[in-house]
Amino acid sequence: MNDMTMGAIDTAAPAKAPIVSATHHVETVLWVKHWTDQYFSFGITRPASFRFRSGEFVMIGLPGDAKENGEPGKPILRAYSIASPSYAEELEFFSIKAPDGPLTSRLQKIQPGDQILMAKKPVGTLVTDALLPGKRLWLLGTGTGLAPWLSVARDPDVYDGFEKVVVTHCVREVRDLAYREMFETELPNDEIFGELAREQLVYIPTVTREDFPRQGRITDLISSGRLFADAGLAQTAFNPAEDRIMLCGSMAMIKDVAHMLEAQGLKEGSNSEPGDFVLERAFVG
Ligand code: A2P
Repeated sequence: MNDMTMGAIDTAAPAKAPIVSATHHVETVLWVKHWTDQYFSFGITRPASFRFRSGEFVMIGLPGDAKENGEPGKPILRAYSIASPSYAEELEFFSIKAPDGPLTSRLQKIQPGDQILMAKKPVGTLVTDALLPGKRLWLLGTGTGLAPWLSVARDPDVYDGFEKVVVTHCVREVRDLAYREMFETELPNDEIFGELAREQLVYIPTVTREDFPRQGRITDLISSGRLFADAGLAQTAFNPAEDRIMLCGSMAMIKDVAHMLEAQGLKEGSNSEPGDFVLERAFVG
């Protein structure tokens, strides 16, 4: 990550008042990477007691503005998929910058050394526990809906359960393909993860509003069969006995793809009743 601000704590800047919370973890920002004027990622410290399953999300945020009487304001918290895998030492997040978003308009200005609030417990359905056993795991996401796949696809345990893991990232413009270099270059060449990535991980980026070698929405790639061909498979549709799918991103995409999956005979799963596919909206605000 090249233009990442790492550990650059500005000692000349006035010290910010430390955040105190009885209900939430208070964690320190380690690095921030701005991908575009719409997307950024950041890493924070991980409390020793914080356990999560790859693909889960957690509420994170900042304290609200102090009230006129000086009392602390209500914290502004939003659900964020944890983008790091469950074994990682730090917690990573991939966020949109919504100019009017009550949280992200402020969160996009965080710097290394700043503190943020995080809930004590993670939750979520984008976990392999909510899926029945299968052969292939399809991680289909738009925009920041890539975040949970960054966690799931970097977890070696996932590769024990599935022969093939396919990450599809659909965005409007080429520059929105955050983490493309990580999938295309870093993971396949990683000392520890490289072999798994080369043999079992397929990355399928697709762009809808600009020229790119692969264009079209996820729905189009499924109906044309291109998704399967580009993953190196002979099938032209999902097979309910072998394919397991996770969906994250825009509500419209999730709805449309979920209908297609149901039409192909797949059933939605949950933590209490695992199924063939699971979904969660990418969180904004
Ligand atoms: P499109 O450019 O054709 O709208 P957004 O930036 O709005 O969150 O969208 C991210 C990506 O999701 C875009 O490439 C967008 O395609 C795509 N998308 C939006 N709606 C749907 C949908 N109903 N089904 C599939 N893809 C969608």
